[in-house]
Amino acid sequence: MLKFDTVETLNAYLQELKNDGCKIGFIPTMGALHQGHLSLINRAKEDKVKTVCSVFVNPIQFNNSNDLKNYPRTLDADVDLLESVGCDALFFPSVDEIYPNKVNTFYNFGYLETTMEGAHRKGHFNGMAVVVKRLFDIVKPDFAYFGEKDYQQLTIVKMMVKMLNLPIRIVGCPIIREADGLAMSSRNVHLSAQEKTDAVLISQTLMEAKEMIKTKSMHEVKEWAINNLKSNPAIELEYFEIADGTYLKPVIDKMDGESIRAFIALKIGKTRLIDTMELIGAKA
Ligand code: PAJ
Repeated sequence: MLKFDTVETLNAYLQELKNDGCKIGFIPTMGALHQGHLSLINRAKEDKVKTVCSVFVNPIQFNNSNDLKNYPRTLDADVDLLESVGCDALFFPSVDEIYPNKVNTFYNFGYLETTMEGAHRKGHFNGMAVVVKRLFDIVKPDFAYFGEKDYQQLTIVKMMVKMLNLPIRIVGCPIIREADGLAMSSRNVHLSAQEKTDAVLISQTLMEAKEMIKTKSMHEVKEWAINNLKSNPAIELEYFEIADGTYLKPVIDKMDGESIRAFIALKIGKTRLIDTMELIGAKA
């Protein structure tokens, strides 16, 4: 795998690829890689593209300075993992390389940035969109791969690409989970053994909600799920929402044909976790 830490050297390599007629598949990450990230690389390889992965802990998308300071940084291990799945290139720029000038861009994603994660992490999605746009400008990919683990982020990136008319196909990829159901996340390393056990309730609640929705109303499922999560005193629930899979608007009644998803954010100890699951699939 080739490694680049400057825009200039990466661009020279990308230009060669383009001259050879290669398509580029881009996988942006903040590092501390796990099987969830690697599944995006593997998905990209199915499209027969050259895979470029970035590892950049983006300071402007953190609304909590401790979260930024404590974010796991494991570049050597990341390199080994990327090599193990045959990633073609790694871009790991410094903060100055990504932001040579003061950032002064404000996107308007409307409702999408005020609901759920947007309400609980002020400024997060603007910071995320700024870095994704900057990385898109640098890499100029044909395809970019994002996990459904961060479903609201994926929805906003799709909206940005439409808004700015970028010639990039955004590919959403399924959530990779531990054997016990816990969604893989770089932040899971902060969980103690007991907290990891407590966290299993998140995916269990989502899976039971998916069963329950077959026979119960949205309201009953939501009430049950909230009580179920709150039944463990180790869990500090931020939200449980049931929303449509396109606009993320809360769903009160079952709507025919639309994808409907449940979304959870909560804290266990100091660690904030999110998860989501489709409860009802869209009809073709
Ligand atoms: P990060 O949290 O490192 O995630 C990078 C990508 O991996 C995202 O698209 C995320 O949804 C995906 N991912 C994480 N855990 C996953 C899992 N268990 N299964 C499947 N995919 C998973 O998301 C970010 O970084 C940043 O916001 C970024 C887009 C890089 C901008 O800074």
